[in-house]
Amino acid sequence: MRTLAILNQKGGVGKTTTAVNFSAALARRGHRVCLVDLDPQAHASLHLAQKLTPSARPGCHMYHVFVEQVPLVEICHQADEHLQVAPAHIDLAAVEVELAGTAGRELLLRRRLEEAGKRWDFVVMDCPPSLGILTLNALCAVEEVVLPLQPHFLALHGLSKLLETLEVVATRSNPRLRLSGVLLCMYESNTRLAQEVERDIDQFLQSWRGQNRPWSEAKLFRTRIRRNVRLAEAPSFGTSIFDYAPKSPGAADYEALAQEFLESAPPLPPEITEEAFAQTMQQLSQPVQ
Ligand SMILES: Nc1ncnc2c1ncn2[C@@H]1O[C@H](COP(=O)(O)OP(=O)(O)OP(=O)(O)O)[C@@H](O)[C@H]1O
Ligand SMILES: [Mg+2]
Repeated sequence: MRTLAILNQKGGVGKTTTAVNFSAALARRGHRVCLVDLDPQAHASLHLAQKLTPSARPGCHMYHVFVEQVPLVEICHQADEHLQVAPAHIDLAAVEVELAGTAGRELLLRRRLEEAGKRWDFVVMDCPPSLGILTLNALCAVEEVVLPLQPHFLALHGLSKLLETLEVVATRSNPRLRLSGVLLCMYESNTRLAQEVERDIDQFLQSWRGQNRPWSEAKLFRTRIRRNVRLAEAPSFGTSIFDYAPKSPGAADYEALAQEFLESAPPLPPEITEEAFAQTMQQLSQPVQ
């Protein structure tokens, strides 16, 4: 089972579009996929709303998984033959406050996932645009992080905070955690800016190679998700790009991403020592521009 979080604390970079359509692309190939919606905005759940059949526990969603220990499998809706969705709800926003003071609150999702066993080949988590308790739960539960970026000015701004969070979680709670790749979304190949950002990201990733950090082996995905209006339209039809516009560039790009992802073996987890951790904290104290 490969478990991944689609994460960037920056809003509107393509996390949900990627979580939904990448999951759908994997499921179309026969892989058993669970898409976990961790965003109280519930955009991933709404994106597939027309496809969802009832779950074993009507009215239950991720809030109940966190706060009432409802098993993950019981809230899953079938969206397609091989695709299940664990939906979010605005109530999920209350988890932050309701779990304040609960010991081990960042490990709740990991426990629920362990209970579910190996019933899926892939678990894909759509994270909210923040580094709060929901995102921390995702990072403690998964082995891989995919970072969608929109190639524009300041695309890398804020990345140091995200990497610092990865390092903290990897050192303290989840040594298997690593960044598997950066994905360029809403890509416009003919702009100089996109090419400059692409070069900056590549240089940044290269500069960390072999340094035993959770992002040291991360790659820039060869597949770029081009800007395509069909991808923006699909959510209002409550379905993935493969049902809404199967011949669109958006469908082709997410299909290519699934292919590229499946070709790559999961990178080995780094060995993070306390010394490396302290050193990284120092290096990361300067924000990346
Ligand atoms: N490749 C694309 N081409 C055109 N529109 C896109 C593309 N990817 C995403 N969008 C649109 O851009 C907007 C933001 O995308 P999305 O919701 O996936 O981002 P997000 O990172 O999940 O946002 P949030 O941080 O609010 O959760 C949406 O309206 C979506 O339909
Ligand atoms: Mg989103």
